[in-house]
Parts: sequence; structure tokens; C-alpha cells
Amino acid sequence: MTDSNSKSSKANTMWGGRFAAGPDAIMEAINASIGFDKRMAAQDIEGSRAHAAMLAATGIITDNDAAVIREGLLTILSEIDGGDFEFSTALEDIHMNVESRLKDLIGEPAGRLHTARSRNDQVALDFRMWVRNQTDAAIEGIQALMKALLVQAEAGADWVMPGFTHLQVAQPVTWGHHMMAYVEMLGRDLSRFQDARKRMNLCPLGAAALAGTSFPIDRHMTAQTLGFDGPTRNSLDTTADRDFALEFLAASSICAMHLSRFAEELVIWSSAQFRFVALSDRFSTGSSIMPQKKNPDAAELIRAKIGRIMGAMVGLFTVMKGLPLTYSKDMQEDKEQVFDAADSLMLALAAMTGMVSDLTANTDVLEVAAASGFSTATDLADWLVRELGLPFRDAHHITGSLVAMAESKGCDLPELTLDDMQSVHGDITQRVFDVLGVHNSVASRTSFGGTAPDQVRKQIVYWNEVLN
Ligand code: ARG
Repeated sequence: MTDSNSKSSKANTMWGGRFAAGPDAIMEAINASIGFDKRMAAQDIEGSRAHAAMLAATGIITDNDAAVIREGLLTILSEIDGGDFEFSTALEDIHMNVESRLKDLIGEPAGRLHTARSRNDQVALDFRMWVRNQTDAAIEGIQALMKALLVQAEAGADWVMPGFTHLQVAQPVTWGHHMMAYVEMLGRDLSRFQDARKRMNLCPLGAAALAGTSFPIDRHMTAQTLGFDGPTRNSLDTTADRDFALEFLAASSICAMHLSRFAEELVIWSSAQFRFVALSDRFSTGSSIMPQKKNPDAAELIRAKIGRIMGAMVGLFTVMKGLPLTYSKDMQEDKEQVFDAADSLMLALAAMTGMVSDLTANTDVLEVAAASGFSTATDLADWLVRELGLPFRDAHHITGSLVAMAESKGCDLPELTLDDMQSVHGDITQRVFDVLGVHNSVASRTSFGGTAPDQVRKQIVYWNEVLN
């Protein structure tokens, strides 16, 4: 950023009419937002072009002025895109930088663009369009990750792995079922962003400074041009509102929390102690000192992104709380954190999608682990209830004795003999061994939403339909 005007002692040419002297350098530094709000240049120019067209359509400015303004704005956009636009701190923000340049380019008509508008509705518009854009990006990113998970789930609908509670082996589940758990979480994230998008999709332009305007503007026209469902209904609320950004950050925080949990599992699963999965080289790094190491850095960074994303949410809530209506300059502190949170979320989603697509499950290790820790003990207890008609509490007790027996023999439940079994309860038959293997166990969990491969496949079909 070039900064030719920062030591200027002249009054601001945009609003300096009643000021004899320019601002102190420190004042200029704390006041300026151009360093970050230049990221909204495209939205600012799109909004101004729509506003100019509307001003002409309603007879507030001439068609000729509107045409010159709209053309000049396009020139500025290409200057900014091409990297040869001189941003000035003295001109505070993106809105005044663009307008000032427009004056250089087209002269007098530039001064007519800001008719029936204020920077208060202008910034509300620009920021809302920027957040709407990122909401769409989040929706796309989530859908891409869900599709990658569906591919994993389809491949491994039958693979068994341990299911955990307390990170202790609990019952065998299927790989597909575990992948689909994340599809469900991301499905909720998807609907949160879609829902927030509907609510944010009303156009602030025309609220003006706070009270609306006496000019005969057509707010429906600008709303339609800019892809909104209509104009906002209260000008005070419009200039004071940043709910759209808060909702974006809230949805982003929940999504980042989900990504963090999955990332943590990948860190654990890829460790030498677990070896459940192998991460691809593309999403791992080596150590500069230990040649044998392959570190899950991408997963660790995804695990951490929640920190800054949720920090942004708390930050903006803290800025907004207690602000009297309508606009206060505090609200300029809304942008940087949202920008950073959006960048972090998109990067985390993309990295997770890449990792999931490249992920290799070590199915042999998963199968052995699935059977460890007497993971089919519940199946044995259920069998005693079903086949011998025992009360579940008695079955639980008998199973406990058999687990203790297996433990003392240093074997797993399916390795006990029928004699061993019958020494604890005489009515147990050979058929008990049908439910003890891990594959039998998962195949029997056929309740809706359960881990049986048939059930998992039903959920895969459901989500494939939703996403395609
Ligand atoms: N740069 C300002 C912001 O980001 C734009 C709005 C300024 N409005 C005002 N009345 N000073 O919030």
C-alpha cells in the first residue's frame, strides 16, 4: 500500500468542509480502515454502480452522469485488480478512496454518486455482500468435504473398527458409520450457513445515514440488481446491524469445532500407537532432526483453527454489545476478524477435504483393534437375554464373569470354549459364538441409524441424494 498522504495537514477533502486543519497523524492512524477494508473494493464498486443506475432511473441524476460514473468505477476496479491503485490513509477507507479516484478520473459527476447515500449504508452493504460471498464459499467447501467423506464411507461400509466412549474401546462399529457421523455434523453446518444466508439477504442500501432519505430512490431496484431478496425494512436497524457477520462467525465456529474434533481423531489414529490410518505425504511433514518422523501438521493446524475463528466471534460480540443505535465507529472493528475467520475456515475445509480424500485406512489394524477390550461383551449379554430369556441385569453379571475369565486366561471372549461358558451358565449353547465376532456384532446393530452396514448404506443413499 502506498501512503502518500499520511502526513497531510490539509482537511479531508471528502468531509473537511467545517475543519480548518487536518487530523493528527495518530488520529489518522486510528481512524483509517483502508489497510483492511480494501478487501471489499469489488463489493464497494458493485454497490456504487447499482446505486448510480438507480439514481438515473429515478431521475435523481442524469443518464449521462450515471453512465460516466459507472464507466469510471469499472476503470477503478481494473486499476485495483491490476495492483496499480494508490490507496491513501488520509482518505480513511475504501469508500472514500474509490470516490476520490473517481473524481480524478471523471471530474464533477463523481460528486453526484453519493446523493441519497451515506457511508453508513454503504459499508453495511459492502460488508454484507462480502460475508454473503464467504457464506457461499463455506457452503461449497462443506459440500466438497461431505462428498469426500461419502466416498470413504462407501468404500468402508463393511470395515470394522472400535467405537469409543471415554476413548476406551466400547463396541465395534463400521468405518462407514464413523465417516457418516461427520457427514451428519457437516450437514448441520451446511444448513446453518444456508439459513443464515436467507436472513442476511436483504439490501441495506438506501437506509442512508440512519433515517432514510428524502430523495425518491428505488430501494427495490438496487436490492434486485445486487442479488438481494428485497430491501431491509428499518433504516435504523439497518445501519446498526451486524447480525449477518455474527451469524457467519457462529456458524463458522461450530463448523471449526467439528473440524477440530475430526482433526484430533486423525492425529490420534495416525500415531504409531494406533496406526488406524496412514495420512498421505501431501498432507504431512517431516522433522528436521528425526528422519523417521511423519507429522500430521495439517490435522494439527485444522485442530487449532477454532481458536482464532471462535476468538473472532467473541471479539465481534464484544464490540457490538452495548452499542447504542445506530452506527458507531466501533463498528469499523467488525471486519478484520471476520476476514481472518473466513480465510481460516476456508483453508481448514480445503485441507480437511484433501486429507480425507487421501486417507488410507489400515483395515487389518482396525479389525484387530475392534475385537480388543472385550468389545463384544454387550453382544454376549444381549444373546443371554434373547436366547435364554434372562433379565438383562443377570445377563450383565454372567457376562462380567466371562470377561473376568477371559482376562485371567489372557484371551478374548470368542476364544473361550463352550465348557468355559457353561461353567458360568449351563444353558449357554454353541450358537453363542455366532454373535461374538466383530462382524456379527456390527451386522446385528440394525436399528435405524445404527452401525450395521445396511443401515449405513441407507444413510449414504440419503446424503448422496441431498448433495446431488
Ligand atoms: N470505514 C467505516 C467503517 O468501516 C465506514 C463507515 C464510516 N461512517 C462514518 N459515519 N464515519 O465502519
